[in-house]
Amino acid sequence: MKTEKQYKDLTIREFTKAADIYESSHAGIYEMCKDDYPYISGELTKEDYTDLLDCGCGTGPMISLLYEEDPTRHYTGIDITPRMIEVARAKNLPGVTWVVGDCENLPFDDNAFDAVICSNSFHHYPNPQKFFDSVQRVLRPGGRLILQDYTAPGPVLWLMNHTEMPLANLIGHGDVGAYSLDEVRGFCGKSGLRVEKLERGKKFRLHLVARKGPVPEPQRNDSLTRKEQIKNAYKLTGSKSGFYFRQTECSPQ
Ligand SMILES: C[S@@+](CC[C@H](N)C(=O)[O-])C[C@H]1O[C@@H](n2cnc3c(N)ncnc32)[C@H](O)[C@@H]1O
Repeated sequence: MKTEKQYKDLTIREFTKAADIYESSHAGIYEMCKDDYPYISGELTKEDYTDLLDCGCGTGPMISLLYEEDPTRHYTGIDITPRMIEVARAKNLPGVTWVVGDCENLPFDDNAFDAVICSNSFHHYPNPQKFFDSVQRVLRPGGRLILQDYTAPGPVLWLMNHTEMPLANLIGHGDVGAYSLDEVRGFCGKSGLRVEKLERGKKFRLHLVARKGPVPEPQRNDSLTRKEQIKNAYKLTGSKSGFYFRQTECSPQ
C-alpha cells in the first residue's frame, strides 16, 4: 500500500513521460481514453452551459473537441502533471484556462462551473471522497458532474484493485483504485450530489452523471419582490458569464 504522495508522484512521473505522445496514434493504452469522449460530449449537449471544468484534463483532448464545436464557452482544464498542461497550453486555444493542480482540492471559487467533466482520471485519486466534495463545492446549483472511469462486477473489481493496479504501479503507473457502483453512489451521497445516471458499460466503463441540488425556493416574505426574496436566500456573486448565486442558509417556511 502506497501513501497519497507516492501515488501522486507515480502519476506525475507516468504522465510526464506520456505527455508528448498522449494524443498521437501511438499512445498505447491511452488510446482507449478516446472511446469515452463521444459519451461525454453527448451528455454535455443535453443541457446548455457556459463554464466547464475538465478534471484531470491531460493534454486537453476533450477541451479541444468542445472548443472546436463552440469556442464561445469558457473552458478550464486542470491537471496534476505540469507537462500535460504545458502540452495543452501549446495548443493556444484563446480564452481557455489551463491550471496545474489537484482535483482533490480544486483551486476555484465556490459555484464557479455549470459542468464538471472527468474522464479516465478518477482512478488515480487516493482520496475519492475529497474529489466529490470539491466538485460539489465548485459546481453551481443545478450543475452536473459527468464522469467516466473504470468499474467492474465484484470479483473482477477485486482483481483489478488487488492485482492489475499494483502490477501497473510496478511498471510506473499511478493507478490507485476502481470502485463499485454502490461505492460511487456513496461518494455522491456524502458530498450532496444527486445521482442521475450510474451505469456499468461495456469494457468495464463507469458512466456517472450527478447533479448539485437545484436552487432552493427563497424564504417567502410577501412584502419583498421576488428578486429581493432570491437575494435574501443567496449571496450574489459575480462570474465571467454574468451572475450566479451562492447558496447561504435558507430554512423552510
Ligand atoms: C489517462 S489521463 C486522462 C486525460 C484526459 N482526461 C483524457 O480522457 O484523455 C489521466 C490524467 O489525470 C491526471 N491526474 C491524475 N491524478 C490527478 C489529480 N489528483 N489531480 C489532477 N489531475 C490528476 C493525470 O496527470 C493525467 O493527465
